Amino acid sequence: MGLCCLLNYLWAILAITAMATIANFFTKKKRDLLGKHVLITGGSSGIGLSVAHEVASRGASVTLVARNVARLEKAQGEVQATVSNVSAGGKVQFFSADLGGSAEQIAAVVRDAEASLGPVYMLVNCAGFARAQKFEDIPPELFKELMDVNYTGAMVVTQAVVRVMKARGEGGAVVFVSSQAGLLGLYGFTAYSASKAALVKAAEALHMELRPHDITVTVCYPPDTDTPGFVEENKGKPVETKLISEAAGLFKPEEVARKLVEDSLNGAFSSTVGFEGFMLTALCAGMGPITDATSFLAQVFLSGLFRFVSFFYLWSFSRIVEREHQKRVASKKSE
Ligand SMILES: NC(=O)c1ccc[n+]([C@@H]2O[C@H](COP(=O)([O-])OP(=O)(O)OC[C@H]3O[C@@H](n4cnc5c(N)ncnc54)[C@H](OP(=O)(O)O)[C@@H]3O)[C@@H](O)[C@H]2O)c1
Repeated sequence: MGLCCLLNYLWAILAITAMATIANFFTKKKRDLLGKHVLITGGSSGIGLSVAHEVASRGASVTLVARNVARLEKAQGEVQATVSNVSAGGKVQFFSADLGGSAEQIAAVVRDAEASLGPVYMLVNCAGFARAQKFEDIPPELFKELMDVNYTGAMVVTQAVVRVMKARGEGGAVVFVSSQAGLLGLYGFTAYSASKAALVKAAEALHMELRPHDITVTVCYPPDTDTPGFVEENKGKPVETKLISEAAGLFKPEEVARKLVEDSLNGAFSSTVGFEGFMLTALCAGMGPITDATSFLAQVFLSGLFRFVSFFYLWSFSRIVEREHQKRVASKKSE
């Protein structure tokens, strides 16, 4: 009897979700990037560079913003090659700026980018970095640097872009690249998780402000993704953090980028790849924006089940932490 009820419940969820997906498909206003200007911070490497290829292949003109000029030049050449394969391909330009630097300099970059390629239609805030260290080992200045680059830098660029977007009244799209660690605090990520979680709440508030202006806000939550930034992050990462984050696997930046662009064009608030991302966003939806029937129904009907599943994840994470702790205690005793 109990099993029969559970099966009926699961079938009902499946049927409702399928109907909602079909309804979403036919009722969503389709947006495209043909001839539009996309500005990508962190566009010279990793996920940002893959986003640049993705939007260029859809006919957009692209502005890349990062610090290192040699990497920007190389990325510009590569994205330009993607543009040449598109019949109505756009242009690719770059600007060097430190997002942890002065707000005036960042606003000037947006002004100059718009002066040459027109108003920005899609902004992808991807510049950022991660460091994983045990709490007591984190240098105090790293707390500030992570907030400056991952959070404040994104806010300053977005302000400059949104002012023009709102004044034009033709809509647009803003994307923040957070992290799964912005939804779930993990061992070693005290400083990083906080900087990525800050983006999520800012995005929720901004979504409410920009809705009447037809400007969508999307937060992307990449899992571990195979990028130069991830290689850097792995240096000196505590073994616990490595073992815990390995559970979700390693994804390709192209996969994350394709989903990010599609979700943003569809106006979805959350963008994820893989089962863990789907589960985490459903579990952590709280009072977040409702942007489509499919994810709303998943949040309503699956969050109880996912909370139950989370028990097993959290249990295995705490076993990892306990085991590594015991190993250290044992090796200290044997010294
Ligand atoms: N890879 C992952 O596993 C993963 C997982 C979750 C979230 N994320 C997030 O995804 C985003 C991209 O990460 P990624 O792995 O693709 O990293 P990446 O390969 O290191 O690329 C980072 C980009 O950001 C730029 N950047 C970094 N600091 C900057 C600053 N202060 N000012 C301006 N630009 C800056 C870098 O260029 P310059 O160094 O030349 O400035 C580069 O273009 C980050 O926000 C990261 O936190 C990554």
